[in-house]
Amino acid sequence: MYSAAFLLCLLAPILTNAVPSRSPTSVSKTPGGRVVPVTKSQFNFDPFQLTNICLDCVRLNTTAAFLCEAMFNWYDPNSIKENPVSSCVCNYTWAWDGVTGIGENGTEIDDGAYDLCWQGDMTYFEMRLVSFHTAENFTLELGHRYHDDENFTRPWDYPTTFAQIDLQLPLIEKAENKIKHYARGPVNATIYGISG
Ligand SMILES: *[C@@H]1O[C@H](CO)[C@@H](O)[C@H](O)[C@H]1NC(C)=O
Ligand SMILES: *[C@@H]1O[C@H](CO)[C@@H](O)[C@H](O)[C@H]1NC(C)=O
Ligand SMILES: *[C@@H]1O[C@H](CO)[C@@H](O)[C@H](O)[C@H]1NC(C)=O
Ligand SMILES: *[C@@H]1O[C@H](CO)[C@@H](O)[C@H](O)[C@H]1NC(C)=O
Ligand SMILES: *[C@@H]1O[C@H](CO)[C@@H](O)[C@H](O)[C@H]1NC(C)=O
Ligand SMILES: *[C@@H]1O[C@H](CO)[C@@H](O)[C@H](O)[C@H]1NC(C)=O
Repeated sequence: MYSAAFLLCLLAPILTNAVPSRSPTSVSKTPGGRVVPVTKSQFNFDPFQLTNICLDCVRLNTTAAFLCEAMFNWYDPNSIKENPVSSCVCNYTWAWDGVTGIGENGTEIDDGAYDLCWQGDMTYFEMRLVSFHTAENFTLELGHRYHDDENFTRPWDYPTTFAQIDLQLPLIEKAENKIKHYARGPVNATIYGISG
């Protein structure tokens, strides 16, 4: 039995000319969004868990840009008690020339904007690409806003927790116009910061 992300990764035809659009503002940059470092003495967060992580880059021909898509299942064990949704599927797409690291040599990463992976009334999962050196070496940032009034008191009972993760995914397919990496995981993403 494969998860939704794995099946989507294999089945979804991502080939398109369209450069993906980003929401101009991050949900996390709304007022009150200062991220403070988490210390073990203050909190006891379990790491986010990522599974079925795939990276797919496809282009129409050797002169066209690749359209890359990172997709994975994301589970937050810290949110299981009070939240009906404690996991989601993330799907992040961006254009890549196949050579230059993004964030290097004058290239920019979509202004550091987050994409929503899932959104409820007061809660959400979001992610952004921090850097992309090669398909074997890129970094994601993950933010989860959820409800917890056991460890947090009002009005701070909707914390947003953040993790960054460096991914080196095994190559499973490489052709002139197609690159595919996949790791079943689970991969832990340690929570480093929190905002209220
Ligand atoms: C990933 O997201 C993009 C943009 O939102 C969408 O066009 C595409 O169909 C999604 N792919 C999958 C496999 O969900
Ligand atoms: C929240 O409180 C429970 C019960 O005291 C504890 O087990 C858990 O580790 C706490 N979570 C965090 C993030 O500190
Ligand atoms: C991932 O985190 C879980 C929960 O904290 C822990 O039990 C497990 O050993 C960790 N796995 C790795 C590979 O660090
Ligand atoms: C390659 O694809 C691009 C983008 O669709 C297109 O504009 C170009 O004409 C194609 N080049 C060749 C040689 O097919
Ligand atoms: C940076 O860009 C310049 C101009 O496009 C190019 O000549 C050079 O090779 C690039 N360097 C790297 C490391 O990609
Ligand atoms: C990823 O790329 C960065 C920048 O080039 C480099 O500093 C880092 O060592 C690389 N990590 C791995 C695991 O190759």
